[in-house]
Amino acid sequence: MQITPLAPSCGVEITGVQLADAAGATLEAVRQAIYAHGVALLRGQVLSPEEHIAFAQRWGGIDINDYFPLTEEHPEIAVVRKREDQQTNIGGGWHTDHSYDQVPAMGSILVARVLPPAGGDTLFAHMGAAYDSLPDDLKAEIEGLEAFHTADHIYASDGVYAQTDMGGDLRGQGMTTGATHPVAIRHPVTGRRLLYVNPAFTVNIVWRSRADSRPLLDRLFAAAMDPAHQCRVAWEPGSVAIWDNRTSWHYAMNDYQGHAREMHRITLSGEALAA
Ligand code: OGA
Ligand code: MN
Repeated sequence: MQITPLAPSCGVEITGVQLADAAGATLEAVRQAIYAHGVALLRGQVLSPEEHIAFAQRWGGIDINDYFPLTEEHPEIAVVRKREDQQTNIGGGWHTDHSYDQVPAMGSILVARVLPPAGGDTLFAHMGAAYDSLPDDLKAEIEGLEAFHTADHIYASDGVYAQTDMGGDLRGQGMTTGATHPVAIRHPVTGRRLLYVNPAFTVNIVWRSRADSRPLLDRLFAAAMDPAHQCRVAWEPGSVAIWDNRTSWHYAMNDYQGHAREMHRITLSGEALAA
């Protein structure tokens, strides 16, 4: 097994591993690489839906996403799909999955099933690099602060997706969500300090109005979006990416209009987060 960086501060490519067989020490090494680097790309994987589920079960628990369509045969697998006639994609802005849950999902295993002829890459950003890059006064300012996260403005019946041609494909329009987490967390395994706010789901600092929270959140988001913290996954048939929602943000490029793209996602259970 070989682990090589995708970019200076974010992501690794792992070669010499078939996830369908990975267990024991190999699985542990994959895990640690993802916790540390935020995302791992593995190419040339032969992974049936059943093997995808079995690998996720070896990793730990599976969370079922409340919004994405599920496949009938495998409710553990969420379908991240854009049809060729749709304009809007899923995940087309910087975000981290499930931060609106009080015990947020650890991460996801995303398997490429249908790819456009070009485009449809996924960008990742490392939140440890983002935290480290903050000026000392900003680090001091966020110490002890918590932020409120919700998905309601995204997925509710009057939310962002409902106004688009993706709205009809999603579930959970009647749900309400909300969670508070420290603005800067400590990774539960590596112990590294990480920025844990994101532009999609973090709407205010606790005890501040949404409007009063904007200047601080916008400063943090701007620092986190620095391309120096980023890496890019260009998908091929057989590519699988596994990411850690605590260590990284991600962004699904929507630059393949007129073509279909379909990914299978299994969401891995996580744990409560602390500063
Ligand atoms: C997701 C997501 C990114 C992509 O599945 O959570 O944001 O590139 N997907 O499809
Ligand atoms: Mn996502």
